Amino acid sequence: MSTWTSHDSSTKTVAGRSAYLLLHNTSEVVTPDPEGRRILRYPRGAVVFREGRVLEIGPAADLSARHRDARPLNANGRLVTPGLVDCHTHMVFAGHRAQEFQRKLAGEDYASIAASGGGIRATVQATDAASGATLEKTLAGRLERWRANGCTTVEVKTGYGLTLEAEIRLLEIVRGAVLRVPGHVHRTALVLHALPDRYRDRRADYVREVRERLLPEIQRRELAIGVDVFCDSVAFTVEECRSVLEAARALGFTLRLHAEQTSRYGGARLAAEMGALSADHLESASEDDWAALAAADTVGVLLPAAALTLGQTLPRADMLRRAGTRVAIATDFNPGTAPAQSLLECAALAARLSGFNADEILLALTWNAAKALGVENEVGHLNPGAWGDAVAWECEALEELSYWMPAVRPDCVFMRGADLALPTVERRVWP
Ligand code: NIG
Ligand code: FE
Repeated sequence: MSTWTSHDSSTKTVAGRSAYLLLHNTSEVVTPDPEGRRILRYPRGAVVFREGRVLEIGPAADLSARHRDARPLNANGRLVTPGLVDCHTHMVFAGHRAQEFQRKLAGEDYASIAASGGGIRATVQATDAASGATLEKTLAGRLERWRANGCTTVEVKTGYGLTLEAEIRLLEIVRGAVLRVPGHVHRTALVLHALPDRYRDRRADYVREVRERLLPEIQRRELAIGVDVFCDSVAFTVEECRSVLEAARALGFTLRLHAEQTSRYGGARLAAEMGALSADHLESASEDDWAALAAADTVGVLLPAAALTLGQTLPRADMLRRAGTRVAIATDFNPGTAPAQSLLECAALAARLSGFNADEILLALTWNAAKALGVENEVGHLNPGAWGDAVAWECEALEELSYWMPAVRPDCVFMRGADLALPTVERRVWP
């Protein structure tokens, strides 16, 4: 069993419900190719699922003739894509920061709000005050909402704990929540996010504790697959991040970085140097930074909601094409900079702000996002062998996905080849 599935017990029951299915009568089926370089389109295509995985994809006439024993599922003339992958969220937190948002709108900047007791530390306090049961239920409700929006794989990072005990608590809560809902959940420990107040004059001690106590404990309890750090002038230095990432790599974690967010600071270079799976944000990255990521095969993750909230611009698609970097788009869902609850809505914004075409948008929400998590062999496309995670959308053409606002809704969401009716909890969490 791969590391991926062994950490993901949430969908085991789902596989048992699916056997041999033919999803047909689509307007088109679209998927990234097996290398994740381009989008394959099958007009009136079909997909065959067997034992939870994709067995075959192709023209419906051909597949129907050869898979007569498969149970037919009618897509009602709709567009079918792989299930979307939200590769960057901070979903485990309590409360909101809507008042702080008003201060941002009035012109106050991120650093000054953080310095006056707002920002990450405000959410750390609210999260600490919430019970484990409340946090777990809230998180499960969020995961259901993401699935209702077409995301079948979601990354959840911690980071609103800060201390060893609090971070472990949050990681255990994530583990509990994923047992309540179907879906692939990728657990990441964001171990350098903000410096706790009691370490104000002891930065080196804090970083050492993260390295020598927190990381080994997370590994011992198998609480996360990935480790993330916030490399920024308002957070942690390149050197501090490097020392933690080196320790994480030695323990077998995959690496991610929040890089070049509030200013150009060296995080993208560090991501490339460390062979990180992704560098995320990159609002302040230069074209050379993007080229360095491309050379290291590190995915650049754009977070349009955070950029908009902080009044920053997204890079232009033509520059990214020149640099040759793989680009993913994610929500960055968090109470401070990105209260964004629909990945497709973020993509519709990115299409407009950067100039991405429909194929690039789909790659950014599927194969490239899966690569940012290191799971592109398993999810993010509908090629044979991938998990049978797919969405039939309430539209007909791929181009519609980034066109409508509010974004197109799923008609059906398939998890591991099974059509799971959107559950009652979804009706409660959906506005
Ligand atoms: O991804 N950049 C750092 N972390 C979050 C913001 C967290 C917060 O403000 O609560 C982000 O934007
Ligand atoms: Fe983030």
